[in-house]
Amino acid sequence: KAAPRTRKVLGSLIQHLHDFARENEITVDEWMSAVEFINEAGQMSTDVRNEGQLVCDILGLESLVDEITYKLASDASDAPTATAILGPFWRKDAPKLSMGDSIIIKSSQDEEVTHMYGIVTDFKTGKPIGGAELDVWHTAPNGMYEQQDPEQPDFNLRGRFTTGKDGKYDFYCLKPTAYPIPDDGPAGRLLKMLDRHPMRPAHIHFIVSAPGYKPIVTQIFDRTDQYCGNDSVFAVKDSLIVDFMPLKDDKKAKFELPYDFRMASF
Ligand code: DHB
Ligand code: FE
Repeated sequence: KAAPRTRKVLGSLIQHLHDFARENEITVDEWMSAVEFINEAGQMSTDVRNEGQLVCDILGLESLVDEITYKLASDASDAPTATAILGPFWRKDAPKLSMGDSIIIKSSQDEEVTHMYGIVTDFKTGKPIGGAELDVWHTAPNGMYEQQDPEQPDFNLRGRFTTGKDGKYDFYCLKPTAYPIPDDGPAGRLLKMLDRHPMRPAHIHFIVSAPGYKPIVTQIFDRTDQYCGNDSVFAVKDSLIVDFMPLKDDKKAKFELPYDFRMASF
């Protein structure tokens, strides 16, 4: 027996699809090319190429669902940290590192090293959250995540950090680079049909989790990036835009980036 929620949601989906086809007088040829598009996206999907997710993201679906799911999070400075889509490039089991470590494994990429630091707090009480895990990942300067790029070592530019009792974290990463989402397949064709570009503003991904708190899946964006107002997958929110501040006379980093995370308990 179908679950009530399944019954309701699928019924609504079918109704909307039928209305869409009727309203637009979809022809057999148009429908068939849509079927081919879906099949091609499915056939092309692998561990490192989530074409179905790319297609949904271009349609704004992942960002919309993120917004619906995490209503409580907002741009307000006294609200829990705003969320943003997971995207297709998260990997489980990123290396567990110690505070102050670097996620840069390949050292030829250290030209824009950034010292990122901050504190994880309870958004209601303002108290620090110890034992919070930050799972971090971003692209190399060539615009590729480690699993897309045979030139990068396994788990390059990924890491997990756990806060101490004071809720504080700090680590070294790179100042990220704007890059196109993979656009040499069905997702790219869809973008062309819509007269849209594939670029995403430079960003760093996070999943922040702590016992008793709702996990925060989010991204932060470089304010100087020209695509902040024009993200191909609609993930940017004002409170997630940050300033990479130039560091003078620091041997380890060119930029520093303070950013705090505010969590909501269950
Ligand atoms: C998408 C998200 C990302 O974070 C990324 O780096 C590339 C693509 C996406 O939503 O499709
Ligand atoms: Fe990304």
